[in-house]
Formats: sequence, C-alpha cells, structure tokens
Amino acid sequence: MTGVKVHLDDAMGTSLIMLYGLAHDARAHPTILGDTIAAAAYDKVEYDFARLGLKPELIGKAVASRARHFDGWTSEFLARHERATVLNLGAGLDSRVWRVAPGPGVTWYDVDFPEVVDVRRQIFPDRDGYRLVGASVTDPGWLEEVPADLPTLVIAQGLTMYLQPADGHALLRRITDRFARGVVVLDTHSAYAVRRQNKLVNRAFGATLHWAIEGPADLERRNPRLHCTDSVSGLAVQADLVRLPFFYDLLMRLAMLVPKARNAGLYLRFTFGD
Ligand SMILES: C[S@@+](CC[C@H](N)C(=O)[O-])C[C@H]1O[C@@H](n2cnc3c(N)ncnc32)[C@H](O)[C@@H]1O
Repeated sequence: MTGVKVHLDDAMGTSLIMLYGLAHDARAHPTILGDTIAAAAYDKVEYDFARLGLKPELIGKAVASRARHFDGWTSEFLARHERATVLNLGAGLDSRVWRVAPGPGVTWYDVDFPEVVDVRRQIFPDRDGYRLVGASVTDPGWLEEVPADLPTLVIAQGLTMYLQPADGHALLRRITDRFARGVVVLDTHSAYAVRRQNKLVNRAFGATLHWAIEGPADLERRNPRLHCTDSVSGLAVQADLVRLPFFYDLLMRLAMLVPKARNAGLYLRFTFGD
C-alpha cells in the first residue's frame, strides 16, 4: 500500500513533529498517552522524518506530556458541559478529539490551513459531531459560521507563537465578543523561547515564530474579558509526567530553577463571560 505523500512547509510543517511525537509515545514503554489513532495516522504518512534529526524518545515525551495536560483541561470542560462547542485552533495533525471522545451534545471543530485539513482527511477517521475547517484562524469568516449559543472551549495548543501579535489579540477579541461564555486554553513561548525555537523550525520548514507572550497579564491587559485561572510551566508538567534518562532529567531539573527557562513555555487557562 502506498502512503499519503505529505508536503507541508512553513508553520504547517511543524504539525508533523507533533504527529511524530505522539506516534513514538504510543509505542514507548511506558507510554504517556497511548494514542493508537495517532500511531495509525503516522503509519499512513509518507514523509522523510529522518531529515528533521529529532530524538524520538525525547520528542515523544515532550509532545505527549503537553498533549496530556491539555487533554485534562479539555476533559474537565466536557465533564461540566454536556452540550458545548469546542474550537481546536491550529489543530495540525493532533488526534485529541478521539482521545477525549466528547459525547453527542458536543460539536468539535478542528481548524487549520486547507493543506493541513487535506492531510487530516486522508489519515484520520471521521466521527459524529466532528467538523473540519480549512482556513486561517485569523480569517474572521469561518468563526461567523460557528453557533454561538453554547458554552465554548477554545484550544490553541502550539499555535500562538506562529501568529503575529496583532492577529492573535484580534482573534482572542473576536472569540470573546462572539461567545457569551467559555474557556480558552493555550500555550505560550516567551521571547527567549521564540528565539531558541526559531532555529529549529526555520531550518526544518522555513517557519518563523512571531508572538512572544511572557505571562497571562500580556493577554488580560489587551482583553479584559479574559481571566486567567491557571498558569503552569510546561517544564514543570514534563518533570511531573515524564521519566527521562538520567542526564536529561538532571538538565530539566536544573533548568526548572532558572526563571527564564521555567517560564519559557507556559500552559494557560482563561475563563470569559458569565
Ligand atoms: C506546532 S503545530 C501544532 C498542531 C497541534 N495543535 C498540536 O499541538 O499538535 C502548529 C499548527 O498551527 C497551524 N497554524 C499556524 N498558523 C495558523 C493560522 N494562521 N491558521 C490556522 N492554522 C495555523 C499550523 O498549520 C500547524 O498545524
């Protein structure tokens, strides 16, 4: 059987790193997520992953631990709201909708550029209540098609750093203007992390990170409807969930002592509305 030939560059290419990480975690012992849907999707893709020079064990643990944290926030929201809308922005090749398995009262939108959506259609199964939107998240048009009457969860995992700051703030404003109430979960890169990560994604895909966020106040100042309820260091999440080889574990624990490293990537949860 021939695979699905994938050519994704710029920010879109980075979704391949996430799929690679989830698939490797699924086959690791012990596994963090055990995401067999991601592993099956990865097996369908024809792409020279070796050119990325990634360390499968490390990338698997990093990607899966972040995904598990955001799965937890997603499941908490779904447990509270039987009828709800979920917008997974910059969904890439992530398989969260199958991992958290929302019930029949939930409509779930995975939004990414049309090229990424085209790959998704070829490597993932379909499911009830699931919609794929091929558009830039910064294009206001698609959002107007999403019903606004239910509690809404907005997930932006691995997205903000690829947006221009003005576009990101405008997107958050459109979301809190359109939906009466909901929760926004997203991760951030500080200016230090943007500089570091740019080297990898630039070399691999010609992608550039733009938006540095130092903490929740950067977003709350620009959008008073957003109230941060949780701010967690990505490094701390990894240190809790992951058992790394001795040398890497030591490095991570030392890095945790340095605020610049500890706050390089934050996982933030906001509420808005009544
Ligand atoms: C690092 S990947 C993260 C994918 C997924 N959220 C995950 O965590 O596995 C970044 C994704 O953001 C998408 N993206 C970046 N800018 C976007 C935009 N303006 N509109 C839609 N998607 C965008 C890219 O195409 C890519 O799929």
